[in-house]
Amino acid sequence: MELFRISSYEGVPGEVKKCVLLYSGGLDTSVMIKWIMEKYGCELVTLTLDIGQATKNLEEVKSKAIKLGVSDAYVIDAKKEFADEYISKAIKANALYEDAYPITTAIARPLKAKWAVKIAEEVNADAVAHGSTGKGNDQVRFDITITALNPNLKIIAPVREWGLGRDEEIKYAEEHGIPIPVDIDNPYSVDENLWGRSVECGDIEYPEKEVPKNALAWCKPWEETPDTPEYVEIEFEEGVPVSLNGKDMELWKIIKELNEIGGKHGVGLIDHMEDRIIGLKSREFYEAPAATIIIKAHKDLEKTVCTRHENWFKPIVDKEWTNLVYSGLWIEPLTKDLEAFIDKVNKKVNGLVRVKLYKGNAMIVGRDSPNALYDLKLATYEKGQLFNQAASPGYIELYGLQSRMAYKLNGKW
Ligand code: ARG
Repeated sequence: MELFRISSYEGVPGEVKKCVLLYSGGLDTSVMIKWIMEKYGCELVTLTLDIGQATKNLEEVKSKAIKLGVSDAYVIDAKKEFADEYISKAIKANALYEDAYPITTAIARPLKAKWAVKIAEEVNADAVAHGSTGKGNDQVRFDITITALNPNLKIIAPVREWGLGRDEEIKYAEEHGIPIPVDIDNPYSVDENLWGRSVECGDIEYPEKEVPKNALAWCKPWEETPDTPEYVEIEFEEGVPVSLNGKDMELWKIIKELNEIGGKHGVGLIDHMEDRIIGLKSREFYEAPAATIIIKAHKDLEKTVCTRHENWFKPIVDKEWTNLVYSGLWIEPLTKDLEAFIDKVNKKVNGLVRVKLYKGNAMIVGRDSPNALYDLKLATYEKGQLFNQAASPGYIELYGLQSRMAYKLNGKW
């Protein structure tokens, strides 16, 4: 059945001349190479970004694309850019969508979109293709960001239109000389980067069942973690980690190391009932050790240096920012407006946080900051304290005035 194109930005066979495909090297996007060339009759260039996914050898991914007939294959190391310009914002916003998901996949999409547009402009392509399905969030994120950055670019999302089942896809691959991955029986759909690992499909689609151990790759199941706790110390500057256990390191390296240490202790396993942008509710599973540890540490330090009023208001802004990014609106002005506020608050988020990792837990056990609003001389119950307790009753009398009046008039216990 021919696809009915309802929107103006969708590529049309015959009209697209040259297309940049966001290529992971996996089966889906490899099938896409042949399928797009066949169906759209256009020239193809692939783009693969290294943002810390497990795929070790990206040169192999490149030569695989060339072998499949693309005219050029770009591989770009974007780990530092991803950490410094995207993940750092998620840290400052304590970004947890629906209080659970550290937007691991979502935060990488604008970066991929940006690079896809850049390469498309460089090679004079008139379209960008991506591997998203028509049921998920990623299509929303890619389509909005890419067409915002360059309204002349058309989008091709083969999975949305090809209607191939898993078996048909494998058959198509066999017929077109596309290598079938060795783990073809793996039931899970995985998206990975420095900030975390998102897993879908297989048994995860049954929310009443515990996620099987074979869905885990970064984290040890809690039953198999060490019996002794491990401590990590993270130093923050303006809300961003700058050193780990006393060693200054680039953010992407701190994240990489914390994924390993945290994973060993089963920290960062997230089983989440999620509301997608397009209306679906789904059960999602994540492994995000570094994100879990860093956000917890950051939140704690932020609370230590901010006033009660800031601590009340900032989570509202954080939540809104996170929702906008999750929902594909990286380019929306409100996202940037909120970022300005988040950055401003984070200027004073400096200091050290100590975290204890044990059996799936990451507990903050110490924090120290030159900007702490905590003052031992005020807070202590010991002798020599400076807090004027005699002033408290006067404060309480006025503070509770209206509530007491209202209770007297019509209060019921
Ligand atoms: N639900 C998450 C999101 O929309 C993750 C999607 C990950 N995709 C995947 N193929 N596992 O951000």
